[in-house]
Amino acid sequence: MSESQRAGLAARFLLDRTPVQPRAALVLGSGWGGLIGELRGAVRVPYAQVPGMKVSTVPGHAGEWVLGQIGSTPVAVMSGRLHYYEGHSLADVVFPMRVLKAMGVETVVLTNAAGAVNTSFQPGDLMLVVDHINLTGANPLFGPNDEALGPRFPDMSRAYDPELLELARQAALEAGVTPRQGVYCWMTGPSFETPAEIRMARVLGADAVGMSTVPEVICARHMGMRVAAASCMTNMAAGVLDQPLSHQEVLDTMARVRPAFTRFLLGLMEKL
Ligand code: HPA
Repeated sequence: MSESQRAGLAARFLLDRTPVQPRAALVLGSGWGGLIGELRGAVRVPYAQVPGMKVSTVPGHAGEWVLGQIGSTPVAVMSGRLHYYEGHSLADVVFPMRVLKAMGVETVVLTNAAGAVNTSFQPGDLMLVVDHINLTGANPLFGPNDEALGPRFPDMSRAYDPELLELARQAALEAGVTPRQGVYCWMTGPSFETPAEIRMARVLGADAVGMSTVPEVICARHMGMRVAAASCMTNMAAGVLDQPLSHQEVLDTMARVRPAFTRFLLGLMEKL
């Protein structure tokens, strides 16, 4: 069975469980889960039940689809995502994007937790992603190309949709959050970066560094979906401050900003 056939089966499985025909999707990264309770008519489907889907192992990533309505926007929300560092293949990491496309979703909003490389940023800042740098050497499109899904050499010059970015900026301001904008750099993890790696990333033009999002963006753009991404600066990246990094710091910062970031996301999804 081809990847798109597998995705089609999973999409059918999800659509059979809800009257909602999602138009937009939201991928909730580490600690971003606060919005789930705000969906109307929510139907929850654990990843483990969906044919073809792998399960996330990271604390803070629940691992379920939530289908419902935000304002007048029918949405598919991924509560928890799969990461490359968990040992999943990149094909498995981006499989949910394939499923979303097969469901008829046109717009994807991705969220994540990230370390601030830009020293003018602060923990708790919201950064809207304008571009990315892939420092992993890996790509979810390695392997034979399925021409039915997209071209062999997809353009990445406008990976993050400028109109969506503007909607996100407005939604942030309306939620009382002053957004930053910047370049997200994907590292594989799971070890945090070294201070030397962070200095390198800064020289290369990165404003934030994290362990997710970029494979999904590449895959979604390959299929012609519109993409926006938002990062919570949960910590200053390695070496910026004279203190060690921890996943606990990431979760603590997310908990602090969750109410405002939830308002931001609800506002953005309502605009789609
Ligand atoms: N580095 C990589 N990923 C992250 C970080 C970081 O400092 N913080 C949250 N996710």
